[in-house]
Amino acid sequence: MAHPIDLPAWRDLSVHAGEMAASHMRTLFADDPGRFDRFSLRLGDVLLDYSKNRITGHTMDLLIRLAEQAGLETARDAMFSGAKINTTEGRAVLHTALRGGGRPEVAAVLDKMGHFAQAVRNGDWRGATGKVITDVVNIGIGGSDLGPVMVSEALRPYHKDGLRVRFVSNVDGTHMAETLKLCDPESTLFIVASKTFTTQETMANAHTAKGWLVDRLGPGAVASHFVALSTNAPAVAAFGIDTDHMFEFWDWVGGRYSLWSAIGLSIAVAIGFNDFRRLLDGAAAMDEHFRSAPLAANMPVVMGLLGVWYNNFMDAHAHAVLPYDQYLHRLPAYLQQLDMESNGKSVARDGSTVSWQTGTIIFGEPGTNGQHAFYQLIHQGTKLIPCDFLAAANTHNPVGEHHTLLLSNFLAQPEALMRGKTLDEVKAENPDLADAQAAHRVFAGNHPTNTLLYKLLDPYTLGMLIALYEHKVFVQGILWDINSFDQWGVELGKQLAKKILPQLTGADQPGAHDCSTAGLINAVKAFQA
Ligand code: F6P
Repeated sequence: MAHPIDLPAWRDLSVHAGEMAASHMRTLFADDPGRFDRFSLRLGDVLLDYSKNRITGHTMDLLIRLAEQAGLETARDAMFSGAKINTTEGRAVLHTALRGGGRPEVAAVLDKMGHFAQAVRNGDWRGATGKVITDVVNIGIGGSDLGPVMVSEALRPYHKDGLRVRFVSNVDGTHMAETLKLCDPESTLFIVASKTFTTQETMANAHTAKGWLVDRLGPGAVASHFVALSTNAPAVAAFGIDTDHMFEFWDWVGGRYSLWSAIGLSIAVAIGFNDFRRLLDGAAAMDEHFRSAPLAANMPVVMGLLGVWYNNFMDAHAHAVLPYDQYLHRLPAYLQQLDMESNGKSVARDGSTVSWQTGTIIFGEPGTNGQHAFYQLIHQGTKLIPCDFLAAANTHNPVGEHHTLLLSNFLAQPEALMRGKTLDEVKAENPDLADAQAAHRVFAGNHPTNTLLYKLLDPYTLGMLIALYEHKVFVQGILWDINSFDQWGVELGKQLAKKILPQLTGADQPGAHDCSTAGLINAVKAFQA
């Protein structure tokens, strides 16, 4: 396939970006009262307003043409069909099959998860001394942590009272130590979540948790206090977990796409299997939309293309995700892995080095906290940072005026970012202000935003939103001609950490390191002496 920059639509978009440099969204809105209707999409209870972008109908036509020329539809169909599109690992990419039904092995694991979740929740599954489980600790990292913790936090209103779900990921012993302080061994269940069951951090944490339990309840207690989620049965057995208590998944489920698989067991325990099923159903609805809606009316396609527009034609390097929804406070962290581990690549699918920009920097915080932290730079800094704003029209916590206050901010920020404030407007508000002072109060505006408004953050809607972002990432990976499903970039640091480990613990002198690393190893040892 041709590289994206060689596609005719890419060249047309470069020219068009030059033309668009002179236009301001204020004018685009003033000239077109139908802009909201033209540039918004609705699927079920989710509305995407993308009208506050630096686009015209012509921009969208060119972007759609780019998607067509890049073979997006063929690539999408290849993913859904189970073709081995993860070519550097020789794997299919079938997280959509986890929520679509139709695969007996998926149905069997879901059934097992359902029974297990129910048994923990209703007290049938007990600890070694007969106590009901009150604390569930998911031990995992990356995709075996971020999805489950994000969803678990997002769906707190659906949690069972008296059953606490905790997450330990960091190899920093503090994470485990502080979590164990909150747990009673007799009523704690550990879920060891690791696709490979070899990840250093997870194995270290799992062994520490096992030691803690065995010290208090004896080795016989492991069977009723540990279960595993993995693709690696021999390693699970070697760790000492009965494989009957292992929930399986498959190599065609990427780590960062795995919350829908057995990796979601902590979610199913927290919210119950029926609501976990609703989460899957919401994702399946978005899958169907992605698979069948025309490109121009396809939410993940539109969001993906807009990201390409800014990343590749307007020199934007970052993208902010701003949930005006406290329940989504871990969404930016989750999306950092989903997006940056997927599309942070600089080699094209044919092995050549790219000469175009790929994955963007994702960051964010819940609104309104972000407003009082980094929005200053988005409004008045020198960088172009497109933003996604997300909020629910209805709240699970109707406390006083809070939700209206929240929504007024959620609506005001994209408007402010789009409109800006001119020098004349500043002066009209402050007639006595000197020009040099007034300049500081001017807002250039023309800052692009997408707004995702949904009825209520329920499991089904959350499933839709997550799948929307998964497919957005897929669209961009195809447009950038990269493999979004490997992650070789995490390997080098792991290899070097293994070499350094004995140099920190033994008397060995630092081996072949640069003088900075060697100096730091010596300094650690000196401080510890
Ligand atoms: O960060 C690298 C990575 O391989 C992720 O892709 C994955 O989600 C994470 O490590 C955890 O891997 P595992 O589930 O095998 O422990």
